[in-house]
Amino acid sequence: MGPRLTHWLIALAVMVLIYSGVIILMAHPRHYWGTAGNDLIEPLFEVPLGPNYHAIGWTRGTPFFDCTGGPETANRLVEPWNKNGWARSLHFLAAWFFLAGLIVYLAIGLFTGHARKYLLPQRSELGCKNPWHDVRAHLHLPMPSADPGPPYSILQKLAYALVVFVALPLTFLTGITMSPAISASYPILLDVFGGTQSARTIHFFTFAFLAVFVLVRLAMILLTGPARQLRGMILGR
Ligand code: HEM
Repeated sequence: MGPRLTHWLIALAVMVLIYSGVIILMAHPRHYWGTAGNDLIEPLFEVPLGPNYHAIGWTRGTPFFDCTGGPETANRLVEPWNKNGWARSLHFLAAWFFLAGLIVYLAIGLFTGHARKYLLPQRSELGCKNPWHDVRAHLHLPMPSADPGPPYSILQKLAYALVVFVALPLTFLTGITMSPAISASYPILLDVFGGTQSARTIHFFTFAFLAVFVLVRLAMILLTGPARQLRGMILGR
């Protein structure tokens, strides 16, 4: 019961975080590495999304003082789209539910043995024959209808373990690293991720991984008997 409830809490929170995150992303789709990032710095890559994609253009700078060679400010040619305040508030609100769900889920999973029993692949399952056999089974269409787990197949276990023990904690850690108040209190976070902008770029990649996971998971539910799968996920049978 506990893992199922917290699973749904995390799933709902992640949906809201993905939605609000994409709005935040549209305000500045450029990603950088290191500590600094802004429109005047060459980005690592830019996500082709939203009205601010490639929306950069600067006129010659306006000098602060009436002299040559002094400091000057650059002027934008385009008015950037910047209506993402509500998405930020929603993102940080959903992050609390996400965090509460994740802590309880991990605590139940680790202390009751749920994680070891159902999520972590056993050594005997990890020979290359098993995962490969599972990949081939998943490529056959139409897919045979399947009983909802647990037990889970080796591919499911690998995907779930990666999500629960790597992607979700990493999204949380990179998320809090972007908070100036938290990184000022725990500067080790900036050392670990190499700066606020690197944390933001890693946050983006963990988001992309989780978004693909959610899409594949939904596709699998639809392909293997949605009513049966949802009954299993909600009622546990
Ligand atoms: C406790 C958890 C989380 C915290 C504290 C957090 C925090 C943040 C912060 C501070 C930003 C703003 C970045 C910026 O200024 O551009 C952000 C952006 C974003 N977040 Fe989260 N986040 C969390 C979880 C998640 C999760 C679970 C997802 C989705 C799976 C997600 C997806 C995104 C996306 C897509 C963006 C925009 C990324 C970008 O601009 O590169 N976040 N998050």
